Amino acid sequence: MLRVEHITTGYGKKQVLTDVSFSVEKGDVILLSGGNGSGKSTVLKIIYGLLKPWADVREGKIIFEGKEITALQVSKMIQQGIAYMPQKKNVFEDFTVEENLSVSAGIYPKAEAKERAENVFEILPKLKTMRKRTPFHLSGGEKQLLAFGNVLIHSPKLVLLDEPFAGVDAENSEVFSNCIADLKMKNVTFIIIEHKKQLLGRIVTKELELELGEIKNEKN
Ligand SMILES: Nc1ncnc2c1ncn2[C@@H]1O[C@H](COP(=O)(O)OP(=O)(O)O)[C@@H](O)[C@H]1O
Ligand SMILES: [Mg+2]
Repeated sequence: MLRVEHITTGYGKKQVLTDVSFSVEKGDVILLSGGNGSGKSTVLKIIYGLLKPWADVREGKIIFEGKEITALQVSKMIQQGIAYMPQKKNVFEDFTVEENLSVSAGIYPKAEAKERAENVFEILPKLKTMRKRTPFHLSGGEKQLLAFGNVLIHSPKLVLLDEPFAGVDAENSEVFSNCIADLKMKNVTFIIIEHKKQLLGRIVTKELELELGEIKNEKN
């Protein structure tokens, strides 16, 4: 469903990724691993269009469900069914859990937004129990679940998660990974950066290891 082809990119003059290519099938849970600074976050950013491939060497592109999506705007990515949860998690601090979801669903007509929020509560019932609380009154793990809810509101087909378990306690990590496993069963596809592999365990279908901005290892 996703093909990343010959991506070379970086920041300013600093080259970070070199000729990165890989493909992802529907229902895959890809674990993206590698040392600090190896370019993992950059891979997710380029898929989501936050960076452009460098074209000087060879033209890199990203194809999603047969369409080229290289460097599309975020709103277009969401329309295509791609969602991204950055390393610094996005929650709206001044709003309750419930309000967070309605703000995230603000791009949809009102009735649909409500339906989408209800759907998120069904996928993550724990969020519903905290719906009147603001992030100030949530633990790190609970905040992360909310950030995930803000992503799931768009019913994505492909979800990009950058270290989703960082700062999450054992109990919420389990809620989180069970939720990922359930969504995988429904054919949702994930690319996840995570150092603690055991948190994802058996649901990982493929591991991609980056070293100095190149794919070093691909394990099925
Ligand atoms: N916004 C940025 N501006 C300049 N350099 C950056 C930026 N973000 C990341 N880098 C650099 O790019 C390299 C890869 O970063 P990153 O993709 O975040 O690695 P990882 O997620 O594997 O730790 C690092 O050397 C990092 O310092
Ligand atoms: Mg990173």
